[in-house]
Amino acid sequence: MSKIEKLVGLLQRLNSGEKIEDVQKDAEDFLNQISATDLSIAEQQLIDNGMDAEDLRGLCVIHMQMLEGEVERMTASLDEGHPLAIMIQEHDVLLKTLEELEALNATLQEKPLTPELQEELLRLAVTLTGAELHHLREEDALFPELERRGISGPPTVMRLEHDDLRPKKHKLEVLAREALEMDQEEFRHHLAALSRHIIFNLRDHIFKENHILYPAAVETITEREVWSKIEEECDKIGYTPFTKGK
Ligand SMILES: [Fe+2]
Ligand SMILES: [Fe+2]
Repeated sequence: MSKIEKLVGLLQRLNSGEKIEDVQKDAEDFLNQISATDLSIAEQQLIDNGMDAEDLRGLCVIHMQMLEGEVERMTASLDEGHPLAIMIQEHDVLLKTLEELEALNATLQEKPLTPELQEELLRLAVTLTGAELHHLREEDALFPELERRGISGPPTVMRLEHDDLRPKKHKLEVLAREALEMDQEEFRHHLAALSRHIIFNLRDHIFKENHILYPAAVETITEREVWSKIEEECDKIGYTPFTKGK
């Protein structure tokens, strides 16, 4: 059995509801040899085999758990205040926000909306829309340097994903603001659809940046002075309300 076939089997077990820890325990040594690319190929095979891409949600969480160590190792190798270290910290906040949104959406599909829950939803939506300067720093300070060095595919995909997610996040914020005045069935319907899209796609996006794009940047941009220039540009663009130390 090929590495990819074996991985597809594991992903199928996870999707049929088996606990992450059980699957991980069974296949620990094997999983240690798996790269981000292997995971992407296995995931693609499941989609090709007829699985709805959005039903794969949750798999990105597993990806991150499996490869958590890699991001930690990369972060440890970066100076404090390094543009990528800041972006990784911002990703952590966004991932936590997505986790909270997932839980809140589940609650609101079952329970009536209260002013407190509406406040909570608005807080999460505003955190997500408040990430715009994070994406802009990637687009205007980091990606151009990668593109100059011949890495153009991943930045193009990342820009498209920013463009896809931006209006969805704004819709979620508007929905949160208008929630109490809306027909509640309609509210729940829109909330479920928007949350599902944002959670799946933003998790996947962050995963690709943390595990493919940022490591490629560390590998490719080796000159300290170039990183200093990127940092200056990042300072000019600005930071999010949740960026630590800025
Ligand atoms: Fe991004
Ligand atoms: Fe990002």
